[in-house]
Amino acid sequence: MQAPQFLSTYASDVDQALASMLDERSSVVAPALLAAMRYSLLAGGKRIRPALLLECYQTCGGRESGLPSVETIMPAALAIECIHTYSLIHDDLPCMDDDDLRRGNPTCHKQFDEATAVLAADALQALAFELLASANIDSDLRCKLIHSLALASGCQGMVGGQVLDMQAESDSEGMDLLTVERIHLHKTGALLCWCCEAGALLANASEKQFQACSRYGKSVGLLFQIADDILDTTASSVALGKSAGKDEAQNKATYVSVLGLQRARELANEMHELAIAACEPLDRTDAKTSTDSTAANNNKSDHLQALVHYILERGQ
Ligand code: IPE
Ligand code: IPE
Ligand code: MG
Ligand code: MG
Ligand code: MG
Repeated sequence: MQAPQFLSTYASDVDQALASMLDERSSVVAPALLAAMRYSLLAGGKRIRPALLLECYQTCGGRESGLPSVETIMPAALAIECIHTYSLIHDDLPCMDDDDLRRGNPTCHKQFDEATAVLAADALQALAFELLASANIDSDLRCKLIHSLALASGCQGMVGGQVLDMQAESDSEGMDLLTVERIHLHKTGALLCWCCEAGALLANASEKQFQACSRYGKSVGLLFQIADDILDTTASSVALGKSAGKDEAQNKATYVSVLGLQRARELANEMHELAIAACEPLDRTDAKTSTDSTAANNNKSDHLQALVHYILERGQ
């Protein structure tokens, strides 16, 4: 399925901003390390996480005056892409999913070597927090974002989920829906949900708007990994830019392995419905007191809804 136009625009803005951000560091980072960071970070990728952050920001009133501009909040969008890329480099290592292909290219450890891949990913993780910590936004908000990104990416979030994912490989007999949901909500959902909540916080959202973005993020997070599980069984490696059919080969706990393809598709549809329903309060003109005519636009969540359609359709 074709990506919506606005997602392609975000992706090229994010690509450019990531490239300049790395260029700015070229005189202070060892060339071999920078080459591996650049290789993985700039290898493409759909840039869905930055798009979710920027769209939640826009939908919660980011176009209104008095709020930080899109340029000002861009470091947060770059930070999440650094964390995501680090998670992919580690996920592909021989000690984890042992993959050779990522974003249509050899994985980082194949292109360079394992030590360089581990260190490039470590550096990207630290870089994410450096970017957030030096963002030109209110200091309380900055601390809140750093704290919440640490929670979403660390032992209570993505890393915790990756551990459960690895453990489940040797325990497929005892696998049930609740366990696989727990794995997915942590390994993938936590970072996606952070994007939505961070976008709302950066827009100084009302409590109602924040809760709506949070609910949307949770549903999108689960939907995203269910779709990824489905695509692993139905799409080709060329289409995915990563090795297809790996989950079954590695005995992974996935929605497809636990429920079968048909039921996994139904659940993806259910998550899609929940995400769309979560958008409803964002469309209400009284969601946040505002005199701005754009904020009074009844179709404020159009792009968030289009993103969730795109994620669902890709995975069907
Ligand atoms: C892949 O994420 C890893 C998962 C969490 C399923 P994406 O599908 O967003 O990968 P890129 O960034 O587009 O390569
Ligand atoms: C990866 O899940 C989740 C993270 C990288 C945190 P997968 O292992 O299913 O991702 P792919 O399929 O390799 O992209
Ligand atoms: Mg994995
Ligand atoms: Mg993997
Ligand atoms: Mg996968």
